[in-house]
Amino acid sequence: MLGRLNHVAIAVPDLAAASAVYRDTLGARVTEPQALPEHGVTVVFIDVGNTKIELLEPLGEGSPIAAFLAKSPSGGMHHVCYEVDDILAARDHLKASGARVLGDGNPKTGAHGKPVLFLHPKDFQGTLVELEQA
Ligand code: CO
Repeated sequence: MLGRLNHVAIAVPDLAAASAVYRDTLGARVTEPQALPEHGVTVVFIDVGNTKIELLEPLGEGSPIAAFLAKSPSGGMHHVCYEVDDILAARDHLKASGARVLGDGNPKTGAHGKPVLFLHPKDFQGTLVELEQA
């Protein structure tokens, strides 16, 4: 079921400042910011060849990363995203295995225009897991 690592996401309090660190200090190419109101975040991606880094900044009231940043004000690793071939089959398999799917259990459209789901961190070694249909 589990495919390749699509990205590692880092929550940041200031997307412009974090993008500047990756661009200027680390010499990486950073995409233009993309607002995702349905997910409550603004994102940029950094392609590092074998995977991507996603930087997330809160967007709007009640952003799902606001509580995370309240606990870790300088930012931190927020989730890992794995690719799956069939997200509905993956969801059904995971639910049958007892894993908790966040939200209403239906995929939303993610930053790459593909269906995504999030899985409860308590079921995955304390790590929030995103699945993206490849
Ligand atoms: Co993500």
